[in-house]
Amino acid sequence: MKPFPFAGTGLTRRGVLAGAAGLASLGFTARTPLAAASARRLVAAPGRQALAFGNASHLVDTWCYDGTVPGPLLRYRVGDRLEIDFENRLAEPTAVHWHGLRPPNAMDGAAPLTQSPVDPGARMTYAFDLSDAGTYWYHTHFRGWNQQDRGLYGVLIVDEIAPPKVDRDIVLVLDDWVITPDGRLDTRFGDMHEWAHAGRLGNLATVNNSRDAAVPLTAGERVRLRLVNVANAQIFALQFAGHDPVLIAEDGEPVAPAALRGEPLILGPGQRADLILDATGSPGSVAPLDAFTLTDEIRLGRFVYGAMAGGSGLAGTEIAPLEPNARPVLDLANARRLELHMEGGAMGRMRGAMMGGRMMGMRELVGQGRIWAFNGVAGDMEAPLAKVRRGETVVVEMINDTAFPHAMHLHGMHFREIRRNDRAVEGSWRDTTVMASDDRVSIAFVAETPGKWMLHCHMIEHQAGGMMTYLDVADDAE
Ligand code: C2O
Ligand code: CU
Repeated sequence: MKPFPFAGTGLTRRGVLAGAAGLASLGFTARTPLAAASARRLVAAPGRQALAFGNASHLVDTWCYDGTVPGPLLRYRVGDRLEIDFENRLAEPTAVHWHGLRPPNAMDGAAPLTQSPVDPGARMTYAFDLSDAGTYWYHTHFRGWNQQDRGLYGVLIVDEIAPPKVDRDIVLVLDDWVITPDGRLDTRFGDMHEWAHAGRLGNLATVNNSRDAAVPLTAGERVRLRLVNVANAQIFALQFAGHDPVLIAEDGEPVAPAALRGEPLILGPGQRADLILDATGSPGSVAPLDAFTLTDEIRLGRFVYGAMAGGSGLAGTEIAPLEPNARPVLDLANARRLELHMEGGAMGRMRGAMMGGRMMGMRELVGQGRIWAFNGVAGDMEAPLAKVRRGETVVVEMINDTAFPHAMHLHGMHFREIRRNDRAVEGSWRDTTVMASDDRVSIAFVAETPGKWMLHCHMIEHQAGGMMTYLDVADDAE
């Protein structure tokens, strides 16, 4: 495996600079709830999706929401109420998780921790208020290494009250697929060799279901790109040669607008980025969208300019920061400090871990489908990482004592990085952060909402293979 070019990519630096500069603007803004959006149905069922690769379009067997991959684009305005009447028409149980949103615990969809999975033929209503604007997504949270890979995900946008002026808003969904030589989805899931390494990496990377996707642009326009990495395990380090997009949000959270200036934009599994891109190319020209992945350097797509110039004249004008979302104040001086030792996988030092209340050696763990652990426990979820009080500031120092990168995701609360390796940082608020091998990253958040909130690697095979735990937030009453 070619090493992933983390070193010198400036990911940390940019995140940190943007976060620091953005501090001042992250005030609290009261929201008046708007009229509730009407309830809508969402059905999970087997389906087929056209993927464009090679010289043709291939119909691939999937499991999906409302018949398409990605599922329907769910779009709301901040302050709206999400109300979804979900129905499971798959042959196995499932549940829907609203990644990056902050619902009450019972609506989080993290089956079986926060709800029983929805059985085949059964329904469940998900309903909660949308308090944060931004680019989010929803996906299955049950047997994800199988269900999510097959296509059970979709994008969820919560518009700002006053969104920035752009000519167009473009959603780019990044996925990678394992396709067999005869053009089908490879359904040999659960390969422990993959689980012990980087996870299930595809041989076909797509943007909006196309390899080498053509993204049409008109010279002179300003567009907002919403990038969402829905891949099981793949990391994309995106490059926009010929354009200089400006980062305005990470994981839905506004950051101080910062031009990429040629630095790659790194998106780990589960992460999102919002960019403002001014179409500065000339009519008829083409500019690439390239990426480094964990294994390759690939052309993901092209920005293809139409023959005529156009746009509303916004391109080149100043880019104002997005409206801040309400975020709590971190009380670092009195924080509850926790450590999360990440271990296991191939080429690791782990010799065994606890599972089902007893110590198991590696061979026995692998027999149980486990090969990773947090603090010596291989993801059995019998006890929380910690019980914390509602309102308490929590700092988790995560230590990646493995040979692989991981994308650590916290449910129900957004965190800031406060330390990365030997440096104090002031990261932007996020819900998922990428850690390279040997990284030590401290995240801080306020335990805002009572309930059981998962903290796991979003490389789904790593999660299923043991990299999951949860925080139990107890209400003040206790
Ligand atoms: Cu995107 Cu635990 O989830
Ligand atoms: Cu991982």
